[in-house]
Amino acid sequence: MAMLAENARRMPRSGIREVMDLAWSLPGPVIGLHVGEPSFATPEHVRDGARRALDRGDTRYVANAGIPEVREAIAGKVAARNGLQVGPEQVVVSAGGMQALYTALSATVAAGDEVLVPDPGWPNFAMAVQLLQARPIGYPLHADDGFLPDLEGLAGLVTDRTRALIVNFPSNPLGAVLPAVLAERLCRFADEHDLWLISDECYDEITFDAEPVSPGRWDEHERVLSCFSFSKTYAMTGMRVGYLVAPLTVAATAAKLQEPLIACVNAPAQYAALAALEGPQDHVETMRRAYRERRDAAAAQLDRAGVAYHLPRGAFYMWVDVSDRCGGDVKSWALELLRERHVAVAPGTTFGDQGEGWVRISLATDTGDLLEGIDRLAGVEARR
Ligand SMILES: Cc1ncc(COP(=O)(O)O)c(C=O)c1O
Repeated sequence: MAMLAENARRMPRSGIREVMDLAWSLPGPVIGLHVGEPSFATPEHVRDGARRALDRGDTRYVANAGIPEVREAIAGKVAARNGLQVGPEQVVVSAGGMQALYTALSATVAAGDEVLVPDPGWPNFAMAVQLLQARPIGYPLHADDGFLPDLEGLAGLVTDRTRALIVNFPSNPLGAVLPAVLAERLCRFADEHDLWLISDECYDEITFDAEPVSPGRWDEHERVLSCFSFSKTYAMTGMRVGYLVAPLTVAATAAKLQEPLIACVNAPAQYAALAALEGPQDHVETMRRAYRERRDAAAAQLDRAGVAYHLPRGAFYMWVDVSDRCGGDVKSWALELLRERHVAVAPGTTFGDQGEGWVRISLATDTGDLLEGIDRLAGVEARR
C-alpha cells in the first residue's frame, strides 16, 4: 500500500472531536458543553442573503480573494469596529476563520520553521502548523497573569527558526481579552524578533465589559495578519465564511494561495455574510447579552459548588479548575464524566500541556443544560 504523508499521519486529532464522537455514540441524551456552536438560529436576513443569491443564480466561481462588494463591506467593518484602516485589496474572504488562519500560515511559514502558539490554546493552531511541516512551540499562559502572554518568557522561546507568533483574543478556551498596551508591545516584540504576528480575532464581537483590541492597529512594519470569522458573531458556523486582513503583499499572496486550496468561497455564503454586515446588528447584541447572562449564571453555580474557574471577558467559554477531582488525568476524567453522567466537556489537555487539571465548558449551550451540566460535573467528589 502507498504510504501516507508523515506530517498528515502525525498530526494529532482534535481532542474535542474525540469527545464529540463518544457523545454521539452513547445511548440517551447527553448535555453537550464541549463545542463552540452558538445555540441561536442564523438571523433571517442573513439566510435571505444566501437565498436571494441562489435565486439570482449567483452560484458560479467568483474571484479568489472574494466578491468585491463583500471585501469592500469587510474593509468598512474592520475600520469601524476594529480600528484597522485598510482597503478592500487587503481583505481575503476565506472558508471560515480556520481557513484564514491556514492561508496566513501558508503564506508565511515554511517546512522546518517554528511557530509560537498559545498553551492553553485552540488545538487547530498547532494542527495547522504541523500540517505545513513546521513546528508548533507552545508558550505557556498562566492564570496569575490573567492568561496574557509574558514577553520575557516569549523571548526565551524565539530561535533562529521562529517565523511567527500566533495570538488569540478574545481567547478560546480562556476568555482573556487583550489590553491595548500589550497589543502594542506584541507588535514591537514582532518587530524586534522579525516575526509575523498572526492574530486570531474570531470572537472579536463577543466581549463583556471590555473592548476588543486588534494588534493590527499598531502594525508599523507590515507584519500583522488578522483572522476573523462570521461563524460566531452571526451564528452561521456551517456557512463557512471568514476573512484575513493583511498587508498588501501578503494579501495578494494569500489570494493566489486560495486557488489550489479552495479556489473561492461559496458565493451564496458570501452574500449571506454581506447581508450580515449590512443588515441590523441587534442580533449580535442579543447573543452577547445571552452569553453574558449564561456566564454569570454559570459562575454563580460554580461558586455555590465550590469549584474554581476563570471568569471570561470575551468569547463564550469558561475555563474550570477540576484539578482536585481529576487525579492528574483530566482527559480520562472527562471521558468518564461523559460515560457516567452524560455531560460532555472539553478536557484541558486538548488545548496544550498547561491544560492539565482544567476543562473548558461552552456557554453556547442554553442556560438550563448549562446549569444541569455544571451540577453533574460539580457532583463528582473531589479527591483528597
Ligand atoms: C479561536 C478560534 N479561531 C477560529 C475558529 C474558526 O471558526 P470558523 O472556521 O468556523 O470561522 C474557531 C472556532 O471554533 C476558534 O475557536
